[in-house]
Amino acid sequence: MFTPQAIGFVRSPYKDTAEVPKGLGAKHEADGVIEILPEFELGLTDIEGFSHLIVIWAFDRSQGFDLLSTPPSDNRPHGVFATRTPRRPNPIGLTIVKLLRREGKLLHVRGVDMLDGTPMLDIKPYLSSIPSETLRRGWLAEAEAQKG
Ligand SMILES: C[S@@+](CC[C@H](N)C(=O)[O-])C[C@H]1O[C@@H](n2cnc3c(N)ncnc32)[C@H](O)[C@@H]1O
Repeated sequence: MFTPQAIGFVRSPYKDTAEVPKGLGAKHEADGVIEILPEFELGLTDIEGFSHLIVIWAFDRSQGFDLLSTPPSDNRPHGVFATRTPRRPNPIGLTIVKLLRREGKLLHVRGVDMLDGTPMLDIKPYLSSIPSETLRRGWLAEAEAQKG
């Protein structure tokens, strides 16, 4: 299909997976900086107008995958495509971050959940169009209700 290439790398406070908040109610409010490689900087033109960005990245420190696994937010196994586990057939991560400001090829963002040095694959503006009342949260809603 295509060979993914990094468009940049993130500077994150997390050096180890154990440091990233996990489980029900985990909040991702950490600040980070996405540094875009110079050859892609022109592609950031007009990005300042968006409050939130979808960041697509590579789980570069994950190996292999499981079709079923038990996530930290539940005690029951779920299919890989019903979770956000790093152990996936194509180890691609997706995070919505708040854009705090841009300084040239640096994007200062809030809400990172990736490890320091994680390769970035793509960035797109976040445009939410699904009303919250029509969203269903599957097994996660049940796990949240059980927790009370
Ligand atoms: C549950 S995944 C969700 C990531 C992303 N928000 C998503 O939905 O694709 C987040 C976890 O991935 C792990 N992680 C973060 N960066 C990683 C990397 N570069 N390589 C492997 N695992 C990573 C950390 O353990 C973190 O808690």
